[in-house]
Amino acid sequence: PPSVPERIEEKRRAALLGGGQARIDAQHKRGKLTARERILLLLDPDSFDEYDMFVEHRCSDFGMDSSKNKYPGDSVVTGRGRINGRLAYVFSQDFTVFGGSLSGAHAQKICKVMDQAAMVGAPVIGLNDSGGARIQEGVESLAGYADIFLRNVLCSGVVPQISLIMGPCAGGAVYSPALTDFTFMVKDTSYLFITGPDVVKSVTNEDVTQEQLGGAKTHTAVSGVAHRAFENDIDALLNLREFFNYLPLSNRDPAPVCECHDASDRLAPELDTIVPVESTKAYDMLDIIHSVVDEREFFEIMPSYARNIVVGFARMNGRTVGIVGNQPKVASGCLDINSSVKGARFVRFCDAFNIPLITFVDVPGFLPGTAQEYGGIIRHGAKLLFAFAEATVPKITIITRKAYGGAYDVMSSKHLRGDANYAWPTAEVAVMGAKGAVQIIFRGKEADAEAEYVDKFANPFPAAMRGFVDDIIQPSTTRMRICHDLDVLASKTQSSPWKKHANIPL
Ligand code: COA
Repeated sequence: PPSVPERIEEKRRAALLGGGQARIDAQHKRGKLTARERILLLLDPDSFDEYDMFVEHRCSDFGMDSSKNKYPGDSVVTGRGRINGRLAYVFSQDFTVFGGSLSGAHAQKICKVMDQAAMVGAPVIGLNDSGGARIQEGVESLAGYADIFLRNVLCSGVVPQISLIMGPCAGGAVYSPALTDFTFMVKDTSYLFITGPDVVKSVTNEDVTQEQLGGAKTHTAVSGVAHRAFENDIDALLNLREFFNYLPLSNRDPAPVCECHDASDRLAPELDTIVPVESTKAYDMLDIIHSVVDEREFFEIMPSYARNIVVGFARMNGRTVGIVGNQPKVASGCLDINSSVKGARFVRFCDAFNIPLITFVDVPGFLPGTAQEYGGIIRHGAKLLFAFAEATVPKITIITRKAYGGAYDVMSSKHLRGDANYAWPTAEVAVMGAKGAVQIIFRGKEADAEAEYVDKFANPFPAAMRGFVDDIIQPSTTRMRICHDLDVLASKTQSSPWKKHANIPL
């Protein structure tokens, strides 16, 4: 019989080969990388320390105990490594072994890295590519999912959790990505759904393809389940590396500071003329964001969903910040159900992980209509209000133009513990626009009333006179002001009354 060192060597070789060359070839033919190739691309060279290469599944039903049905490491590769020198824990499901399906052993391996990540204080990155519960194992596999879900919940707000969907992810399996902070997808090769097209057909008689039901386009543009989609495995993994650089390792860690080659006192003269004189004319809030942040670099989250609000990560003087902005280009930048939910989740992530918030406001109010009211805009709009109000990270707000009605209050206003609130000269902080206001007060009978209203309210003075904005600033100085404020606010501490947890409207 082979010696122990020989057996160790043989098992390691087998683990590296996963489900075998034929299945690796099939994976490549689909345009997908293998679980190990993905880890190598994601992590810094030579930084991967693998765990549990010798773990095997424990199922003996359906002939599973025969040696040809045992694969060292089973259907997931787990361990830790570094991304640009910073620690991350990873698991990468191996579709070549039983379709990446989740056995008890597979779940146990994932739980081990999650527990370590929580203890050490480092993010968890999951690369999902799995046919779901290991059918031969039955309830053992369901228990495995729940063990992971519990850890997703306990890790929430402690270490960042990121899911990259790189193949199938169906049934109960979807809830682990759903519980993580960010879900990214690969176009054309990944899909997420609770029940597949066949079940949908038999229950609701709808004809739908996998792609239509749960592909990247569906989840990034329609359902809002996923936060970004990338072209292929390589593009996705390289973007994930870039994204990782913005994140703190844990809630005990300050947001990372990168070397910055963009002067903190740089003026942005283009901003002085960016807001059109005509207050109903649109412009692109992304132009403002790009002009203000370091080196015009902005990692947008959910760019194709609820486009009337823009959220994402950038840096100011090298320090990570979360940016929220109304987008006048889409639905005039109105807040609605989807944009409120999108904004609220982003704000809460930033607050949980000590990332300062910069908010650009140009909001004519909440979107009117039965669709919004019946859909619960009151409940959903309250989420964004709640999120900004409870956030204790440094909060800087710039009103570029409209800040009307309740939406003014919601958008990180002074009243919600805003630290530095500025108005541009074009700002209009008012209950509503002049036309609507005059219609209501005078029923359109006073000819001069509109001009009077504009003069009184459609400008930054009423808010500035009451101290609701701290200053009226020249737009070109915005970057400089924010960088100075962030320096001062770096030592900010603020707390809220003790509670078990808050009860955000859901
Ligand atoms: N449990 C055990 N083995 C599974 C599995 C599962 N849930 N899902 C896939 N596999 C195995 C297949 O038997 C096949 O094994 P083989 O390589 O020995 O032939 C291999 O994984 C690849 O699956 P295959 O069906 O050939 O790949 P595909 O790309 O054509 O389809 C899926 C992928 C995921 C759509 C399909 O496998 C599927 O529908 N699986 C079941 C999904 C499910 O209902 N899971 C349980 C509910 S959570």
